[in-house]
Amino acid sequence: HFDDHASVWLFGYGSIIFKADFPYLERRPAHIKGWARRFWQGSHDHRGTAEAPGRVVTLVAQEDAVCEGMAYLITPEVFAHLDHREKNGYLRLVTPILFGSGQSAEGLIYIASEENEAFAGPASELEIARQIAHAAGPSGRNSEYLLKLAQALRELGAQDRHVFEIEHHLLQLDPGAALPASTHTP
Ligand code: BEZ
Repeated sequence: HFDDHASVWLFGYGSIIFKADFPYLERRPAHIKGWARRFWQGSHDHRGTAEAPGRVVTLVAQEDAVCEGMAYLITPEVFAHLDHREKNGYLRLVTPILFGSGQSAEGLIYIASEENEAFAGPASELEIARQIAHAAGPSGRNSEYLLKLAQALRELGAQDRHVFEIEHHLLQLDPGAALPASTHTP
């Protein structure tokens, strides 16, 4: 039971990478094995609507895959709060989290599996970009989610052909969606 621990590692691979709206003790770039990040989860309540659903990322099991992201060390209280918020349609799994240092730790991931109602499933990167280009919801434009995720992955030095290809198509379809230039100097 995680309540027995003073803290818990949560591996973020989606919006949690660029928007951690919860307190944490520590954050470290990390990766997990055997999972691939895919824009296969539908979003009709955050980044889209029932008429024009958007797409957000989930993880799909894939042998030999590596998913790079950001791990957050959080207290059991914060975890209980997130768990309540994210559980809708998402499964919580325990997985080894690997850090660049060669260290590893047991941690948690939330995944939207193909059993959940909003699962959108596979489509080509171009089709996904088209769908994202036309979707917006209460949390903002779907393109903003995609572009912020791609930007955060670049800053991590992460490789992700799927995400960067969708980003490339989206910027061709809608150049005006580009994020404002970063104000910080490298
Ligand atoms: C993530 O960024 O890891 C994430 C965000 C929302 C729901 C599930 C996972």
